Amino acid sequence: MTVVTELDLPELDPADPGLSGWRWHVEANGLLDSGNWLAQGPLSLVVLDREAGEFFLRSKSAEFPGQLIADLFGVKDGPLREQIDANIINRRGDDHRRLRSLVNPALTPRAANGWRPAMREILESLWVELETDQFDFVSRFSRPYPSQTIARVMGAPASDAQRLHDWSEWIQRQFDPIALSDPEMVQTMQAKVAEFYEWVDPLIEKRRDLPADDLITTLIRTEEEGERLSDQELRNLVLNILVGGVDTTQSQLSHAVRLLAGKPDQWQALREDPDEMVARAVSEVLRFEPITAFTARQLTEEVEYRDVSFPAGTLLLVCSFTGNRDPEAFEDPQEFNILTERDRTRPLTFGAGIHYCVGANLARAELEEGLRFLAEHVEKIELNGLTELQAVSGIYGIDRMDVRIRT
Ligand code: HEM
Repeated sequence: MTVVTELDLPELDPADPGLSGWRWHVEANGLLDSGNWLAQGPLSLVVLDREAGEFFLRSKSAEFPGQLIADLFGVKDGPLREQIDANIINRRGDDHRRLRSLVNPALTPRAANGWRPAMREILESLWVELETDQFDFVSRFSRPYPSQTIARVMGAPASDAQRLHDWSEWIQRQFDPIALSDPEMVQTMQAKVAEFYEWVDPLIEKRRDLPADDLITTLIRTEEEGERLSDQELRNLVLNILVGGVDTTQSQLSHAVRLLAGKPDQWQALREDPDEMVARAVSEVLRFEPITAFTARQLTEEVEYRDVSFPAGTLLLVCSFTGNRDPEAFEDPQEFNILTERDRTRPLTFGAGIHYCVGANLARAELEEGLRFLAEHVEKIELNGLTELQAVSGIYGIDRMDVRIRT
């Protein structure tokens, strides 16, 4: 049996700040073409193919290494560390199962669909405020939309949406090695977690006395075999939902519009039959340009797979971008094409196994409503100058994207 350290692997540094846009596609596709299913990064292995990715994501001998990453970057105490230790993604075994069973009812497909009218209202108000046909899509649409939606979902005042956005963006960086290597950024993350706790505790108290039709009230009421969430679990779950639910949807919607702006025939198809095409378009964007290009695991014991031994402690990044281009799982995987019918369960963009994204239903609903609204209102959309893409490490977002529309 070969030990993984003996393999001669191609290199990939997922934290390279230059990995973005065409360079990211060229490097990742180059690795796929090389026929390797593993690559070597500076801190971890990178799993390239879908089947192997799914194997490690679902393995009972693997866990999400959030606390290890915090240790590596010296985040040992303070509110940020308290939050990392409590984060659902870093919980294990029965503890994680219990948290999931308490949070799942608030984020079922039915619960997510219940927020669609609110999403449409928010989109309508952003549209009314637009008053121009040339604008930065990120600042006018994809940034305010998820934070206003999450404010509604959580039962927070709409006027707090901007602050929610700011907290989400900062606290999300606990997964980004580039940000974690910068002490000033870590200090800001510490401050943002403390601010969020100060803001959310009174809101939870208020909902205990005055229940409403929102996620915080649902979480307060949810009981599983006589168990309820403690105050500490509740504030952290709300934070996890905020952090997981803003920057992600914002970035995925921006990429959706960027990709569709380059395919006028597909935009036309979306406009002609939104009932059929919107869900397909969302699945195709999630597959083709996953904004969570990597998710991580650390092995808790030795694992053997494909005649290779992976020692306990091995760190792995599972690459959804390459996994989503597996020719055995998808026809013409290198083509972005919403007209091709594909199996929507197969992309690795939401992860797999016990940590599979708990917000996937809400994310899909938001993305679908966003694209449906635009398809109904916009005859043609084009990129119009600047598109500033971020690096793929962490969340692969877009800082700015100038567009021109014809209505
Ligand atoms: C396009 C949008 C989104 C993408 C691509 C995405 C992706 C992911 C990924 C890759 C994971 C880790 C899965 C794993 O390691 O196996 C995850 C977990 C998670 N996501 Fe999302 N996400 C999105 C939207 C959301 C939304 C809207 C919410 C909140 C409502 C959310 C909340 C979470 C939470 C709380 C976890 C941790 C789940 C657990 O540990 O059990 N995400 N997501």
